[in-house]
Amino acid sequence: MESFMNGFSLEGKIAMVSGGGGGIGSTACLAFAEAGADIVITDLTIEQAEATAEKVWSSYGKKALAIKCDVSKPADVDRLGEEIRKNCKRLDVAFNNAGIAFEANAEDVTLEQWNRCIGINLTGVFLTAQMAGRIMLEQKSGSIINTASMSGHVVNVPQKHCMYNASKAGVIQLTKSLAVEWGPRGVRVNSISPGYINTVLSNSSNPWYNEWLQNSVMKRIGETSELAGVLIYLASDASSFTNGADIVIDGGYTIR
Ligand SMILES: NC(=O)c1ccc[n+]([C@@H]2O[C@H](COP(=O)([O-])OP(=O)(O)OC[C@H]3O[C@@H](n4cnc5c(N)ncnc54)[C@H](O)[C@@H]3O)[C@@H](O)[C@H]2O)c1
Repeated sequence: MESFMNGFSLEGKIAMVSGGGGGIGSTACLAFAEAGADIVITDLTIEQAEATAEKVWSSYGKKALAIKCDVSKPADVDRLGEEIRKNCKRLDVAFNNAGIAFEANAEDVTLEQWNRCIGINLTGVFLTAQMAGRIMLEQKSGSIINTASMSGHVVNVPQKHCMYNASKAGVIQLTKSLAVEWGPRGVRVNSISPGYINTVLSNSSNPWYNEWLQNSVMKRIGETSELAGVLIYLASDASSFTNGADIVIDGGYTIR
């Protein structure tokens, strides 16, 4: 009998996660490892990446390589690609997830702030997707997942961060563009758009927290574990005909 669940396996695959030392990225590393993959974990600080690598190994016995990389710096991303080629010989999954958020009124945003946000959230996703895409196109296979946000679809209130919203809308359209170019060559590209998820970026100590809950449909924010199923789906062959999709996981926040 045909097994539908086998399609979700990542056994024998190599998965790279950027921002793998942080909330969503760290959970993604553990989820991919439980599904069978060995993991390449990158983050701004090597200590954060190494902490996740230790959890991957101790929890699932999967190999985990920690690499320091600032995704907004082309030289760092080039080096990351070289390390992956040298140590892993291939790359099956790239979760381009590193991102930052901060608030500033539109009339006060400095060019430095704008460039920093776009540089990490949009250019960083492009650079890591391009690095992964080059390897995957040679293999004629691979799955790229980019982290967008519900802020790429709607303007969240009351916080003001036009540069963040613009960066995430850019990720959604970048994802579709790459999906059209690379899909025919065996490389699928999709994005996720989380709503508020409990990490250092969004949590109960945020001054807007109660307003977020009031505005939400489910009257709560999400946990990183609630993204794991979608991430395993997109990373694996279970999603073999899913390309250029943006999957919103926001508890219904953006539907009204
Ligand atoms: N938490 C939320 O509510 C939420 C909602 C929607 C989208 N997102 C997006 O999810 C992604 C992960 O966010 P999170 O909530 O886990 O935040 P987080 O701060 O816990 O994790 C982000 C990780 O990215 C790393 N990072 C930051 N700049 C980097 C750079 N230049 N190069 C490499 N690594 C860098 C950080 O060190 C950190 O480990 C981000 O792209 C964020 O915009 C988060």
